[in-house]
Amino acid sequence: MVSLSSVMLSFIKGIQKSRISLLGAFITTVVFPVLLGAIILDMLGYVTNTYYGFFIYMILGPAFLFGLVLVFVGLFFFKGSREVQIFTMEYLQEQVSDPVRFTRVKKLIFLGVVLTVVNIGVFSLLAYSGYHYMESNEFCGQFCHTVMNPEYTTHQNSPHSNVHCVECHIGSGAAWFAKSKLSGTRQIIAVALDTYPRPIHTPVHGLRPAGETCEACHRPELFHGDKLVIREHTLDDEVNSKVNTLLMMKIGSAGDRAVSSHGIHWHVSPENTITYLSDATRQVIPEVTLTRADGTKTVFRSGAKIDSVKGEKSKTELRTMDCIDCHNRPAHVYLSDEEAIDLKFAEGKIPRDLPFIKREALKAANKSYKSAAAAKVGIAADLQAFYQQNYPEIVKQKQAQLVQAIAGVQAAYAENVFPDMNIGWGNYTSLLQHGPDFDKGCFRCHGGEHESDSGEVISSDCNICHSILAEGENDPAILKTLRGE
Ligand code: HEC
Ligand code: HEC
Ligand code: HEC
Ligand code: HEC
Ligand code: HEC
Repeated sequence: MVSLSSVMLSFIKGIQKSRISLLGAFITTVVFPVLLGAIILDMLGYVTNTYYGFFIYMILGPAFLFGLVLVFVGLFFFKGSREVQIFTMEYLQEQVSDPVRFTRVKKLIFLGVVLTVVNIGVFSLLAYSGYHYMESNEFCGQFCHTVMNPEYTTHQNSPHSNVHCVECHIGSGAAWFAKSKLSGTRQIIAVALDTYPRPIHTPVHGLRPAGETCEACHRPELFHGDKLVIREHTLDDEVNSKVNTLLMMKIGSAGDRAVSSHGIHWHVSPENTITYLSDATRQVIPEVTLTRADGTKTVFRSGAKIDSVKGEKSKTELRTMDCIDCHNRPAHVYLSDEEAIDLKFAEGKIPRDLPFIKREALKAANKSYKSAAAAKVGIAADLQAFYQQNYPEIVKQKQAQLVQAIAGVQAAYAENVFPDMNIGWGNYTSLLQHGPDFDKGCFRCHGGEHESDSGEVISSDCNICHSILAEGENDPAILKTLRGE
């Protein structure tokens, strides 16, 4: 008969005898109290440092588990000594092969099962918390602070600030989880060796198809109707005139049972598949292929050439169009200098009654600065100097407004420009536009140059995407009508 106390005794003796187990026991004993204390502090929310979670779940946790595993591996493969034998593989093999002996070691098996259950519990708890930690915005966005700061900041200011990084970048399912950990490991190495590009390249070629991420929340087949877009701009004249542009965007639908696909979201209907050839930046698109539900294909070609970059062979990409080909900036919204400053006027952060503040704000925000801190100082100095020189009475009478305006311009800069990562104005542009020269975003395909063999052209008609209700008008009549004034 094997008694429980003798089992415990040989357990302890075994640990003493096997060097591997001893090392394991040492690691577990040292790590355990620290780990327990750290987890309790973390759960109570006393420590919020980003690196703290990493320390607990990525370093202490695995160290503890490693120690545990060593203890058992050491015992299991121990050879020779009789006192320790009941834990060894040799002994167990002997016992199990003989039914009479088998009943004798029942208690031992019971103990083994209990210990295993406890271990699995500890294992799962640590794995679960570690997994959650790795899925957090803090880990994705702040761990490699300098590198991810731009994406983290822009995400915080976007309509998706409450959507976790992993919901768009990984999505559900084990395959993409594993893929992301592999590429994450590569990225951590790149950060450690300082070999990552500044700024980080865009578009992201390995991004999961939007159908499996965005469409977990959005369903364009249920969209219907148009969307009124009211844009407020500020001119660079002395009085910083406010003007409005009103567009009725023909959002359309990807088509469900009730309506067929039409308008802007026609592209993402299951009935239509659009593939296109492009260069690696997806800016030059020489060929677009539309495949309809019945399998008929139309190929539109523009005759554009994909340039080779710096002696490299030109790289082409064949891609199936999805949400990201228009909504490439749903979370990382980098505004242009004009947009960023106009937004601060609209929010009331830059007072309109300082003469030429729009013009001067743009000038100050467009100088090149070495760091965010230098930009802050530089913008303040430039604006102070301009008013000191040209409007000394304003510096005296409207000091508060001037201070407010400076803060507004500094914020516009800090939210969109990141000198540490070489991100200037316009590094990351949105595709949801065509730009004033009608050559970007939608107009990569809709510029009127893509023609099929039978002479069909991808339309550049202003009215297929929107109707323009007012353009750059001071106090447009339509706005008054809409507001019931
Ligand atoms: C609503 C979806 C969404 C969320 C949430 C999101 N991203 Fe992104 N992110 C994107 C898309 C889409 C792109 C790719 C743009 C492209 O390929 O042109 C992208 C691109 C990036 C890039 C490449 C650089 C760039 O701007 O193109 C990085 C790095 C990045 N995201 C990090 C993050 C981090 C860190 C978080 C969380 C703090 C996050 N993302 C949250 C959708 C999202
Ligand atoms: C976890 C859910 C979720 C996911 C995933 C998600 N979104 Fe959203 N999205 C939302 C919510 C909620 C809003 C509304 C936010 C608001 O208006 O405050 C929104 C708003 C939007 C808007 C309107 C933004 C605006 O300026 O009003 C667009 C466009 C959009 N999402 C596109 C995308 C794209 C593209 C993706 C995939 C890369 C995506 N979303 C992934 C939940 C999600
Ligand atoms: C051909 C380009 C294009 C594609 C592809 C596209 N969208 Fe859009 N989407 C637009 C435009 C343009 C708007 C109007 C934006 C504006 O001016 O505010 C819009 C608006 C939206 C809005 C806001 C609707 C509202 O009423 O406020 C959401 C949400 C959205 N899209 C989600 C998606 C999702 C999800 C996908 C992928 C399944 C997708 N879109 C594919 C161009 C596109
Ligand atoms: C990759 C190429 C490509 C891009 C980029 C693209 N489109 Fe299209 N679009 C097409 C093709 C192809 C058609 C179909 C042309 C035809 O049938 O004549 C189309 C058709 C349309 C239609 C008419 C749909 C209907 O009702 O039949 C609208 C509206 C439209 N696009 C809006 C947009 C907007 C807005 C953007 C930018 C946000 C955009 N497209 C970007 C390729 C593109
Ligand atoms: C393929 C679709 C498409 C076509 C064709 C198109 N636009 Fe646009 N346009 C857009 C989108 C998308 C926006 C951005 C809407 C937003 O800012 O929410 C836009 C915005 C605008 C704006 C507002 C810019 C601002 O921010 O003040 C003007 C003005 C405009 N378009 C004029 C035109 C004119 C003129 C034509 C015809 C030559 C034209 N567009 C053709 C898709 C299109």
